[in-house]
Amino acid sequence: MNRLVVVSNRVPAPSMGAQAGGLAVALDGLMEKRGGLWFGWSGAVVPEAAAQSPSIERSGGVDYATIDLTREEHEGYYNAFSNGVLWPLLHTMPELMKYDRRDARTYREVNVRIAATLQPLLRPDDLIWVHDYHLLPLAAALRARGVLNPIGFFLHIPFCAPDVLAAAPEMADFVRDMLSADLIGFQTDNDAHNFIAAAQILAGAVRGPSGSVLYGGRRVRVGVFPVEIEARSFARTAAEMADSPAARRLRRSLDGERLILGVERLDPTKGLLQRLAGLRQLLEKRPDWRGHVTMLQIAAMSRKDVELYRNLRAALDREAGALNADLGEPDWQPLRMVSHAVDRATVAGFMRQARVGLVSPIRDGMNLVAKEYVAAQDPADPGVLVLSRFAGAARQLDAALLVNPHDSDAMADALDSALRMGLEERQARWRALWGAIEHRTPLLWGRSFVAALLRAAVHGVATPKLTLVPHSIPVERPRSPRMPLERVRAELDPTALAAMVKPSRVLN
Ligand code: F6P
Repeated sequence: MNRLVVVSNRVPAPSMGAQAGGLAVALDGLMEKRGGLWFGWSGAVVPEAAAQSPSIERSGGVDYATIDLTREEHEGYYNAFSNGVLWPLLHTMPELMKYDRRDARTYREVNVRIAATLQPLLRPDDLIWVHDYHLLPLAAALRARGVLNPIGFFLHIPFCAPDVLAAAPEMADFVRDMLSADLIGFQTDNDAHNFIAAAQILAGAVRGPSGSVLYGGRRVRVGVFPVEIEARSFARTAAEMADSPAARRLRRSLDGERLILGVERLDPTKGLLQRLAGLRQLLEKRPDWRGHVTMLQIAAMSRKDVELYRNLRAALDREAGALNADLGEPDWQPLRMVSHAVDRATVAGFMRQARVGLVSPIRDGMNLVAKEYVAAQDPADPGVLVLSRFAGAARQLDAALLVNPHDSDAMADALDSALRMGLEERQARWRALWGAIEHRTPLLWGRSFVAALLRAAVHGVATPKLTLVPHSIPVERPRSPRMPLERVRAELDPTALAAMVKPSRVLN
């Protein structure tokens, strides 16, 4: 089996403690089963000139190789460009970007340094899988160093339309850089179509057969691979944790009131202010709910070095205070806000007692919390998922009550219906939702991406040169197929493939 090399900004190295970010949750199982190398940032910020070689620790068959970032790199690459520009832009919120071309330069330089540090660790048979918006130029930076291994890229967040994308001047270059990969994966059809359009409009690529684009004499596959959760094990955890001391304390404090639960990182894409507007509307339009319903919003503070996030925290604190002051009573408050992270197992227990799971992002790549809420429910007496139609998860979870988070009346109506919904309808909706996630797992997701990468590496053989657009980083092109067919056949073990519920597909 070829060694898998995962590259992501955050690396769940054992010495760094548990990291429950969506990306780590999605990849942990695959790496545990398969072993390999996981490369990325150590989480440490050093005053200047970081060491050239990575530190490596081994645990359970996985080598975790990490580098530190200098203060300047951390500011320009992570805070300013990744989270201050790419994050809002790719979520179609360009008005929230704080663009400075110097940060774009630092972002590219860090990617080039990651490529230079990773290259000596690579073996000829490795499969390289690069993750997320922090590393858009990495495939090109690796190719520029002569790396010929198959490279896959997966974007965990949305990909916006090309006209929005152009708001950051470097995006055409980054799209070209992404095209150095053999396979580019997205969460939804919409993201994949936006990318193909951007590759055509901004990079001069040509649409190829069966979900591919032709660029620089190569065929690059584009696929849709919705990230999944371990639904069955999450369901077991929720059932166990429904009676944890924390869950019991919460139940006691609610004293029979119905619980609306929201759980996320505090982030402008999550629609938290709009959510509070929906709750306010509910309680103003239907005052009979006052005293009988409470919303618990866990909004864990994140990226606090980015101004956008600090401003959002201040705005949320103001609105939460105003909501409780305007609508609360001496013996009842409509809203409880928690701004620190609560561990996943405890949250699973909370989800099981919430009558409504409210997941209403303005835009979201997938949103695993929506899937976790479904998995956490008691099949005999399930709660109701109220889900933004702009979350990637809405494509699979269409039996939820789908809402437009901008429309506070619609949010209030959906919350009211969810709170009033009878057992039969709750069960019927839950069965449909459970059916959409029950047989899928992050392991199958990861395996299907790796299988598609292997296929792309074999079939992505040079095609006639179709575009003369220069690459932003000079690229050495491989001249022949990069991986012998026998090796790919061994990897695509038919029994493993047969066991796969078709969790993803390459676009047509
Ligand atoms: O893909 C989005 C993501 O990278 C997730 O993996 C994770 O939930 C989150 O963003 C973490 O953000 P950060 O690394 O900035 O804390």
